[in-house]
Amino acid sequence: MTARTPKLFVKSYGCQMNVYDAERMADALAPEGYVAATSAEDADLIVLNTCHIREKAAEKVYSELGRIRKMGEENGRKPLVAVAGCVAQAEGAEILKRSGVVDLVVGPQSYQRLPDLIARAKAGQRPVDTEFAVEEKFSSLATPARPLATRGVTAFVTVQEGCDKFCSFCVVPYTRGAEASRSVAQIVAETERLVAQGVREITLLGQNVDAYHGAGPDGRDWSLARLLYRLAEIDGLARLRYTTSHPRDFGDDLIAAHRDCEKVMPYLHLPVQSGSDRILKAMNRRHTAADYLRLIERIRDARPDLALSGDFIVGFPGETDADFDATMQIVDAAGYAGAYTFKYSPRPGTPAAERETQVDEAVKNERLQRLQARITERQAAFQRSLVGRRIEVLVERVGRHSGQMAGRSPYLSPVQIDGSAAAIGEVVEVDVVGVGPNSLFAAPAGGAREDIRMLAEATA
Ligand code: SAH
Ligand code: SF4
Ligand code: F3S
Repeated sequence: MTARTPKLFVKSYGCQMNVYDAERMADALAPEGYVAATSAEDADLIVLNTCHIREKAAEKVYSELGRIRKMGEENGRKPLVAVAGCVAQAEGAEILKRSGVVDLVVGPQSYQRLPDLIARAKAGQRPVDTEFAVEEKFSSLATPARPLATRGVTAFVTVQEGCDKFCSFCVVPYTRGAEASRSVAQIVAETERLVAQGVREITLLGQNVDAYHGAGPDGRDWSLARLLYRLAEIDGLARLRYTTSHPRDFGDDLIAAHRDCEKVMPYLHLPVQSGSDRILKAMNRRHTAADYLRLIERIRDARPDLALSGDFIVGFPGETDADFDATMQIVDAAGYAGAYTFKYSPRPGTPAAERETQVDEAVKNERLQRLQARITERQAAFQRSLVGRRIEVLVERVGRHSGQMAGRSPYLSPVQIDGSAAAIGEVVEVDVVGVGPNSLFAAPAGGAREDIRMLAEATA
């Protein structure tokens, strides 16, 4: 009898760094013989790669664990269950107490030790590993080995992890630890490998990516801008993006890179969280609304077509109507192409959670709705502004309907291209002819111009 090939199912929640980490876990387990399972039902090892950022995100792990328990009762199988990610880091052994189905708990800095932890779990030990060892993680985690067929033409590369900012609402400094940057050589090697596998667009990830300060080949610390220029030298790489930036760390050289480095896309996710100086101060963001707007203006001077995105928190402790109005105002003043909005969620261990001025849930809901409506309007206006324009699209997959190819604009908007003969991985010029709720519609550039113009007018 041949042994069954062990199958791994990783379910990721939260930010892109978890998506990246999930791939690294699969890479770390490949030498152990693990292959990807198509579903949790089919898996021998289920990893829940969790997020702790808001209460709702953190609680998802327990409802998922309940489902796994039920699944086991129904089909009689007992896969190994691991809890990874930021809830693992924050709650550690508590998770074992709360859920009997969990066999091991592993924090984001310890994935290189997964094979050993799994062996111990199989021996019935229920290990917990939440040590901070970023250096070790970066130097010993297997590098990406998957072929393009399963990977696609875009990929994430973590360049920096952790955060020293301690915004008063945020758990990330506690779950991801202190800021640490990977070396330029490591990042270049990983990117070259991805590009050799057919990847055309790389998004550099960091909780505070513009604070990147990795060791360069010259023995000095390199900035994110310098890293971007270096990566842009890689033949075959078409596009570079990075996320998430903090306004305080946005250097002049990064602004210049948006002007001078062609491969850096004109899209920027730069959260401001609130438009009120009083709230920004209470959040420990260490900048004012005016600082933020000035910075945006300088970046737009370098790159006028920049599409700006952000994050907002409504209902931070002590937020008054006037504070919230200031947030609505900064949405207009900054000119967002889109943004993410969140209701403040008190997180255990963070200073803001202790404040007595917590905002009523109903008020939070009402503010969230108003802010979301304004941002949706802004987003639609941005999308409409692209109709009639010629833009480049990186083709990522076949489209929703036959004869369509799908990809993304430089501004990250999904684009459906009609009647395109382009291949996946190509960057093609298209004329934007219309907008849908989530995508742009386009035709290959230089097609039936009259039709396009008429359509553009019809949708304007
Ligand atoms: N490092 C990034 C963001 C990390 S978390 C930055 O500094 O901007 C992603 C977003 O989640 C944050 O920008 C914030 O808007 C939101 N967030 C973080 N903690 C939160 C909390 N306690 N309640 C609600 N939203 C929160
Ligand atoms: Fe959290 Fe602030 Fe760090 Fe962003 S900068 S990860 S919001 S503490
Ligand atoms: Fe969530 Fe951790 Fe990312 S808390 S947002 S998964 S850094």
